[in-house]
Amino acid sequence: MTHSEIVGSTTVMVSAGGETTAAAITGMTYYMLKNREILKKAQEEVRSSFNSLSDITTKPVENLTYLNAIIEEGLRMYPPNPASFARRTKKMVEVIDGYEIPPNVRIPWPRTSKMFLLTLL
Ligand code: HEM
Repeated sequence: MTHSEIVGSTTVMVSAGGETTAAAITGMTYYMLKNREILKKAQEEVRSSFNSLSDITTKPVENLTYLNAIIEEGLRMYPPNPASFARRTKKMVEVIDGYEIPPNVRIPWPRTSKMFLLTLL
Protein backbone atom coordinates (compact mmCIF):
# COMPACT_ATOMS: atom_id res chain seq x y z
CA MET A 1 0.00 0.00 0.00
CA THR A 2 1.17 3.53 -0.69
CA HIS A 3 1.44 6.06 2.11
CA SER A 4 -1.67 7.93 0.94
CA GLU A 5 -3.64 4.62 0.71
CA ILE A 6 -2.64 3.82 4.28
CA VAL A 7 -3.69 7.29 5.45
CA GLY A 8 -6.98 7.02 3.53
CA SER A 9 -7.80 3.54 4.88
CA THR A 10 -6.90 4.51 8.43
CA THR A 11 -9.13 7.57 8.25
CA VAL A 12 -12.07 5.42 7.10
CA MET A 13 -11.45 2.78 9.76
CA VAL A 14 -11.21 5.32 12.58
CA SER A 15 -14.14 7.50 11.51
CA ALA A 16 -16.48 4.70 10.27
CA GLY A 17 -15.45 2.02 12.74
CA GLY A 18 -14.70 3.88 15.96
CA GLU A 19 -17.83 5.60 17.24
CA THR A 20 -20.12 3.03 15.59
CA THR A 21 -18.48 0.14 17.42
CA ALA A 22 -18.31 2.08 20.71
CA ALA A 23 -22.00 3.04 20.46
CA ALA A 24 -23.00 -0.56 19.61
CA ILE A 25 -21.15 -1.97 22.62
CA THR A 26 -22.61 0.76 24.85
CA GLY A 27 -26.16 -0.12 23.75
CA MET A 28 -25.66 -3.86 24.17
CA THR A 29 -24.10 -3.38 27.62
CA TYR A 30 -27.02 -1.14 28.66
CA TYR A 31 -29.62 -3.74 27.66
CA MET A 32 -27.70 -6.59 29.30
CA LEU A 33 -27.39 -4.64 32.55
CA LYS A 34 -31.14 -4.01 32.44
CA ASN A 35 -31.75 -7.75 31.85
CA ARG A 36 -29.44 -9.60 34.23
CA GLU A 37 -30.68 -13.05 33.21
CA ILE A 38 -29.47 -12.38 29.66
CA LEU A 39 -26.14 -11.07 30.93
CA LYS A 40 -25.76 -14.22 33.07
CA LYS A 41 -26.48 -16.53 30.12
CA ALA A 42 -23.95 -14.65 27.95
CA GLN A 43 -21.33 -14.89 30.71
CA GLU A 44 -21.97 -18.61 31.06
CA GLU A 45 -21.63 -19.16 27.33
CA VAL A 46 -18.30 -17.28 27.17
CA ARG A 47 -16.88 -18.81 30.35
CA SER A 48 -17.82 -22.36 29.38
CA SER A 49 -16.33 -21.97 25.88
CA PHE A 50 -12.84 -20.71 26.72
CA ASN A 51 -10.14 -21.60 29.22
CA SER A 52 -8.09 -18.45 28.92
CA LEU A 53 -8.20 -14.95 27.49
CA SER A 54 -5.80 -15.91 24.71
CA ASP A 55 -8.27 -18.58 23.47
CA ILE A 56 -10.80 -15.86 22.64
CA THR A 57 -10.15 -15.20 18.96
CA THR A 58 -12.39 -14.32 16.03
CA LYS A 59 -13.11 -17.84 14.72
CA PRO A 60 -14.34 -19.54 17.92
CA VAL A 61 -16.31 -16.43 18.87
CA GLU A 62 -18.41 -17.00 15.71
CA ASN A 63 -19.75 -20.18 17.37
CA LEU A 64 -21.14 -18.35 20.41
CA THR A 65 -24.76 -18.43 19.26
CA TYR A 66 -26.21 -16.69 22.30
CA LEU A 67 -23.69 -13.85 22.24
CA ASN A 68 -24.15 -13.43 18.48
CA ALA A 69 -27.93 -13.23 18.96
CA ILE A 70 -27.33 -10.49 21.54
CA ILE A 71 -25.19 -8.59 19.03
CA GLU A 72 -27.85 -8.90 16.30
CA GLU A 73 -30.64 -7.85 18.62
CA GLY A 74 -28.49 -5.07 20.13
CA LEU A 75 -27.88 -3.62 16.67
CA ARG A 76 -31.62 -3.75 15.98
CA MET A 77 -32.69 -2.20 19.31
CA TYR A 78 -29.89 0.36 19.46
CA PRO A 79 -28.68 1.12 15.92
CA PRO A 80 -25.48 3.15 16.32
CA ASN A 81 -26.27 4.94 13.10
CA PRO A 82 -30.01 5.63 13.25
CA ALA A 83 -29.98 8.10 10.37
CA SER A 84 -30.09 7.17 6.75
CA PHE A 85 -27.63 7.33 3.92
CA ALA A 86 -30.09 8.24 1.18
CA ARG A 87 -30.06 6.66 -2.26
CA ARG A 88 -30.99 8.54 -5.45
CA THR A 89 -33.14 7.02 -8.18
CA LYS A 90 -31.50 6.70 -11.57
CA LYS A 91 -32.39 8.25 -14.90
CA MET A 92 -35.66 6.37 -15.39
CA VAL A 93 -38.79 5.79 -13.35
CA GLU A 94 -38.18 3.11 -10.74
CA VAL A 95 -40.83 1.05 -8.99
CA ILE A 96 -40.21 0.70 -5.28
CA ASP A 97 -42.72 -1.28 -3.25
CA GLY A 98 -45.36 -0.71 -5.92
CA TYR A 99 -44.83 3.07 -6.16
CA GLU A 100 -43.47 4.72 -9.30
CA ILE A 101 -40.64 7.04 -8.29
CA PRO A 102 -39.47 9.68 -10.81
CA PRO A 103 -35.82 9.95 -11.82
CA ASN A 104 -33.27 11.69 -9.63
CA VAL A 105 -35.25 11.56 -6.37
CA ARG A 106 -33.39 11.26 -3.10
CA ILE A 107 -34.87 8.51 -0.91
CA PRO A 108 -33.80 8.31 2.71
CA TRP A 109 -34.91 5.41 4.87
CA PRO A 110 -34.17 6.06 8.54
CA ARG A 111 -32.56 2.93 9.89
CA THR A 112 -34.40 3.07 13.22
CA SER A 113 -37.81 2.87 11.55
CA LYS A 114 -36.60 -0.07 9.46
CA MET A 115 -35.40 -1.90 12.58
CA PHE A 116 -38.67 -1.39 14.42
CA LEU A 117 -40.73 -2.23 11.34
CA LEU A 118 -39.02 -5.63 11.33
CA THR A 119 -40.44 -6.19 14.83
CA LEU A 120 -43.98 -5.77 13.50
CA LEU A 121 -43.65 -8.13 10.52
C1 HEM B 1 -21.14 -1.78 14.98
C2 HEM B 1 -20.27 -1.24 14.14
C3 HEM B 1 -20.67 -0.57 12.83
C4 HEM B 1 -21.85 -0.08 12.42
C5 HEM B 1 -23.17 -0.02 13.19
C6 HEM B 1 -21.67 0.43 11.08
C7 HEM B 1 -22.68 1.01 10.31
C8 HEM B 1 -22.54 1.37 9.00
C9 HEM B 1 -23.60 1.89 8.16
C10 HEM B 1 -25.03 2.11 8.61
C11 HEM B 1 -23.08 2.11 6.94
C12 HEM B 1 -23.81 2.69 5.73
C13 HEM B 1 -24.45 1.64 4.90
C14 HEM B 1 -25.20 2.32 3.78
O1 HEM B 1 -24.59 2.59 2.76
O2 HEM B 1 -26.40 2.56 3.93
C15 HEM B 1 -21.69 1.75 6.98
C16 HEM B 1 -20.82 1.84 5.93
C17 HEM B 1 -19.47 1.66 6.03
N1 HEM B 1 -18.79 1.23 7.14
FE1 HEM B 1 -19.58 0.71 8.89
N2 HEM B 1 -20.38 0.24 10.71
C18 HEM B 1 -19.71 -0.36 11.75
C19 HEM B 1 -18.39 -0.72 11.81
C20 HEM B 1 -17.47 -0.42 10.82
C21 HEM B 1 -16.05 -0.71 10.90
C22 HEM B 1 -15.37 -1.39 12.09
C23 HEM B 1 -15.50 -0.24 9.74
C24 HEM B 1 -14.06 -0.27 9.28
C25 HEM B 1 -13.06 -0.79 9.93
C26 HEM B 1 -16.58 0.29 8.93
C27 HEM B 1 -16.42 0.82 7.68
C28 HEM B 1 -17.45 1.19 6.84
C29 HEM B 1 -17.27 1.59 5.44
C30 HEM B 1 -15.95 1.65 4.69
C31 HEM B 1 -18.55 1.88 4.94
C32 HEM B 1 -18.91 2.32 3.53
C33 HEM B 1 -19.21 1.10 2.70
C34 HEM B 1 -19.55 1.47 1.26
O3 HEM B 1 -20.52 2.16 1.02
O4 HEM B 1 -18.79 1.05 0.39
N3 HEM B 1 -17.74 0.16 9.62
N4 HEM B 1 -21.39 1.29 8.25
